[in-house]
Amino acid sequence: MTKPNLLSGMQPSAASLHLGNYLGALTQWVKMQDDFNAYYVIVDLHAITVSQDPSELRQNTRRTAAQYIAAGIDPSKSALFVQSHIPAHAQLAWVLNCITGFGEASRMTQFKDKSQKGGADNSSVGLFTYPILQAADILLYQPKAVPVGEDQRQHLELTRDLATRFNSRFGKTFEIPEAHILKETAKIYDLQEPTAKMSKSAQDPKGLVNLMDEPSVIAKKIKSAVTDTDGEIRFDREAKPGVSNLIGIYSAVTGESVESFTSSLQGQGYGALKTAVADAVVAELDPIRLRAQELLADPAELDRLLAQGAAKANQIAERTLSDVYDKLGFVRP
Ligand code: TRP
Repeated sequence: MTKPNLLSGMQPSAASLHLGNYLGALTQWVKMQDDFNAYYVIVDLHAITVSQDPSELRQNTRRTAAQYIAAGIDPSKSALFVQSHIPAHAQLAWVLNCITGFGEASRMTQFKDKSQKGGADNSSVGLFTYPILQAADILLYQPKAVPVGEDQRQHLELTRDLATRFNSRFGKTFEIPEAHILKETAKIYDLQEPTAKMSKSAQDPKGLVNLMDEPSVIAKKIKSAVTDTDGEIRFDREAKPGVSNLIGIYSAVTGESVESFTSSLQGQGYGALKTAVADAVVAELDPIRLRAQELLADPAELDRLLAQGAAKANQIAERTLSDVYDKLGFVRP
């Protein structure tokens, strides 16, 4: 039995993933590798829709790849590759641009949010057509499932609409992909602002636990996490967001239930809670950081793994693009 295809993408926009990325998405991608023929793409073409420093982009692309491999994306099972290595992404994006309505693209809420922040003259046309490039990323690989966060739901709907439109105009070409919205079973909040999701755009860097943080840095951040003054170790997101976040992080990292963890700490203070959480997080993340550092110390080997992923991805991407060009009526060389 051949496994169904799966595709997802991540931005190379930070030097390190954070604990929210890791628990919210990456651990689920790792699990899905066994049931799907998975393609995981590091979207550098998307990254330049906002301005990037070239040497940072190059570093962050390799660092992102290293962290995914270190956390369990297995290059012998899944294709892990860099978007700009596969010319078909930009080529299919052009075709899809030509079947997308201007009004349809204008309704994308992520563009509206991002462009409002920067002002219309600071937003590139690339940022406007970002979701169409994303649709190309997906449709090239004929995936049944696209695991993404809730914030990507609208882009997935656009992708399905474009695939359906192309298929009905030109004949069946694309699989219609399903959004596999990752359940936020383990919602991780900012340590300094525990009512906001952990996010790389956090106000205060102390609010984020990064995969690449040294153990002492992780311990320090967790020990200075915001709590409250009643001193009780109890899970209650409304009344006690800081303490509940720490309990939630422990439970997500270790698999131990909230009830069993909180009862094991009865009679103890927040100091003991924080020590337990810091130890658990370090135990989970430190092997990943060390493995990622090893990979980064040997960029030739890392690039070889990415080239291997690209070779696998390129086969199916070229096949889909060639079918699209044929169907459009392009004279083929
Ligand atoms: N837009 C996605 C994000 O910000 C990243 C992405 C690009 C992606 N292409 C994709 C996700 C294709 C899934 C499939 O998270």
